[in-house]
Amino acid sequence: MEINGIGVVGCGLMGSGIAEVCARAGYEVVVREVNDALLQKGLGRVQGSLAKAVARGKATQGQVDEALARVHGTLDLATFAKCDLVVEAAIENMSAKKEIFAALDDILPPHAILASNTSSLCVTEMASVTKRGDRILGIHFFNPVPIMPLIEFVRTILTSDETMEIAHQFGASLGKRMVTAKDTPGFIVNRLLIPYLLDAVGIYEDGLATREDIDTAVKLGLNHPMGPLTLLDFVGLDTTLFIADAMYEEFKDPRYAAPPLLRRMVLAGHLGRKSGKGFYDYG
Ligand code: CAA
Repeated sequence: MEINGIGVVGCGLMGSGIAEVCARAGYEVVVREVNDALLQKGLGRVQGSLAKAVARGKATQGQVDEALARVHGTLDLATFAKCDLVVEAAIENMSAKKEIFAALDDILPPHAILASNTSSLCVTEMASVTKRGDRILGIHFFNPVPIMPLIEFVRTILTSDETMEIAHQFGASLGKRMVTAKDTPGFIVNRLLIPYLLDAVGIYEDGLATREDIDTAVKLGLNHPMGPLTLLDFVGLDTTLFIADAMYEEFKDPRYAAPPLLRRMVLAGHLGRKSGKGFYDYG
């Protein structure tokens, strides 16, 4: 199967990044948002990131102009009727995702592959509302999508070998490295990352060290690009809490139980960079 048209559902942080890397790889991309304000904001993010790629010498102005011309915004899922592959990167809410999957199952051509960028929800449950379980998988990108080299594939017990093969060709065409995990919450990366981030909040809450010292310790002692509290602010405290709760719900393992401070910060609206305040201030 040849992939020509790509659909991306959602033009938030992840959806806009996915649309950008697909367009840079030469695909025609349709990206859908729920209203025009969110769509324009998302398309603006694609433009900003492409401009940064030029400024950093990663692309020429000509390449960026061509990529931008391949990105088409829409408010209507029906525009995806000719897509060969759709990546859903909408809100992390199972009923919203099931609604999108059921609608796309009716709209997409029979050969099309439908993927979710979910970081923690059950891909099999999304497949259950469609008649194309063999053509459904998770394609999990990492933030920031244009820079992070990894894609995590999530293979359900329904996903066919052919779908996995096409997904690998697609990932390779984006220049990404790929790993495959079973459909359990957190897959590989978040299964390891979430307990580590929760522990960092826990030791900060216990007063073991300052936020700066916790981050410096990990940056310089383990050579990570960001300390855990900076990374929490970067990923979003609400996103992290959501993933932790989904993992705790499934495994009932205390390693995935969110520390009280994390839940309270989310309740207080301290979500990290996106809200201007998390463990640090972004004024
Ligand atoms: N397009 C293409 N390339 C770009 C770019 C763009 N828009 N913006 C920057 N780059 C390039 C730069 O030119 C640079 O390339 P070289 O290394 O070749 O010079 C590289 O990307 C790094 O750019 P910066 O210098 O601007 O950034 P940095 O060095 O300060 O690193 C960072 C920023 C990549 C975010 C780094 O801090 C990092 O890796 N942090 C950790 C991020 C992380 O862990 N992400 C995963 C989160 S978990 C997740 O996403 C999954 C989930 O389910 C929660």
